[in-house]
Formats: sequence, C-alpha cells, structure tokens
Amino acid sequence: MVNLKLSKDLPIGFMDSGLGGLSVLRQAVRLMPNEDFIYYGDSANAPYGTKPAEVIRTLTFSVVEMLLERGIKGLVVACNTATSAAVRPLREKYPDLPIVGIEPAVKPAAIQNHGGRVIVMATPMTIRQPKFHHLIDKYKNMAEIIPVECKGLMEYVEHGELYGADLNEYFDEHLAPYLTEDTETIVLGCTHYPFLIPQLKEYLNNDNIRLIDGSYGTSMELMRQLKEKDLLKDGTEKGHVIIENSLPDSKMVELSYRLLRG
Ligand code: DGL
Repeated sequence: MVNLKLSKDLPIGFMDSGLGGLSVLRQAVRLMPNEDFIYYGDSANAPYGTKPAEVIRTLTFSVVEMLLERGIKGLVVACNTATSAAVRPLREKYPDLPIVGIEPAVKPAAIQNHGGRVIVMATPMTIRQPKFHHLIDKYKNMAEIIPVECKGLMEYVEHGELYGADLNEYFDEHLAPYLTEDTETIVLGCTHYPFLIPQLKEYLNNDNIRLIDGSYGTSMELMRQLKEKDLLKDGTEKGHVIIENSLPDSKMVELSYRLLRG
C-alpha cells in the first residue's frame, strides 16, 4: 500500500500493457496541454490480453504502485484488458485516487447506431470477462453486437508495423468473416487499435462503416474527476510528457514518442 499525497503539481499517470495507451494519452494531452504526464508501457509483459485475469491484476498493480511511489495525482488505466481485470480492486485499495479506466465504446456505438451491425474488436481476455458480458447485455436490444477476439493484433503496433499486406492478411482472416452488408460500426476495444485506423480504413474501403474508440470519453472523464477534486494544474504553460517502458530497448520509447506525435 502506497501512501497518497495528491497535489495539483504532480503529473497524471498512464499505464498500458505496451504502446496502446498512447492513443488515449494523445487525447488527454490535447484536452489538457498544460498538465504533466507520465506514461508507462509494460511491453516486456505484453500482451496482457491472452493472460489469465489474476496475472494481469498482479502486473497492473505493480506498474500502478511504481507510478504511485513516484507521485501522481490521478491514474488512467489506458488498457481495456487491464481495466476489466484490475480497475475495481485498484479503486478499493486507493479510494481517494482519481482512477479512470477504459472499456470498449459499446454504449456510444449502440446509441448512434441505425439498425446495422456493431462489431467489437478486442483482446480475448476483454471479451471473455463478465464485465464485457454485462456491457453487451445492456445494449443488445439497441443493436446486433458481434464481439471479435483479435489475438495477435496488438503486436503489430508494438512492432511499429502500422501499414502493409500482413495487416490486410490479418483482417482477411480475423475480421472479414464478420463483415456484413449492414455493418455500420466497428468499436476498437483495445487501445492499440486506433493506431491501425488508416490501414483498416483502406482495407474496409467503405465510408459508411464508422470506427469508434473510447479515448475521448476517457480523457473527458479524467478531466472531470481532476476538476471535481480541484487537482487541475493552474496556469497555461505547456506541460511535459515522460514516457517509460519496461523493455530496456530505447527503440520502444522512441516509437512511443512517434506514435504520440502522430
Ligand atoms: N492495449 C490493451 C487493451 O486496451 C491490450 C493489449 C494487450 O496487452 O493484449 O486492451
């Protein structure tokens, strides 16, 4: 248990199993450019999405407690998989810390849908968790929701492979079988996937299919929680972003800054 001392001048902590959470961080930086952020990618232990829930919980707690030791005023679990496995026990252990998790954006997808199919791409672990089944149950009357387990897809982002024929082959094998004439929305239910949007759009070649993810909603919720606790930084001076990774290879950090800049 880490003793918390929350103050406005501390950075906001972000964690993910690797580089995916940067898709959430870039939204948060746009919304709160004067804040400082520290991002930790646990690429040495990636993927989380094919591991048992207890293992993911232990990995998540160890990253979060390292960030808390260093001093953060709020936490974003910028990983759908880690959120479903660990966000509840994290909130129980640290009730005073603003903690924001991310879940597949099924709610906005169902609400904005006009009767077509909603495909949810996510890791096997996210899709098999009870939290996800509850989410589907809640909105199943509003849309036909089809979960698609995307084992192996996050690895493309971890390797910086955002374009190319191999990705198209992956989509052929794992996504194409679920695409129908009436597919209206694809929910990107893993924070790595938004980095694949340009290739996915080219693959789909269909402007009628909307791609959505939870990064904006998550960043708005972060801002709301910090504001409520009077933890937003004063002033307008541009903040700093520190990125660290559990892989000793400095290329991961370089790739991270590249993904963040877009
Ligand atoms: N970025 C993570 C997510 O949002 C998962 C990737 C993984 O570690 O499998 O679910």
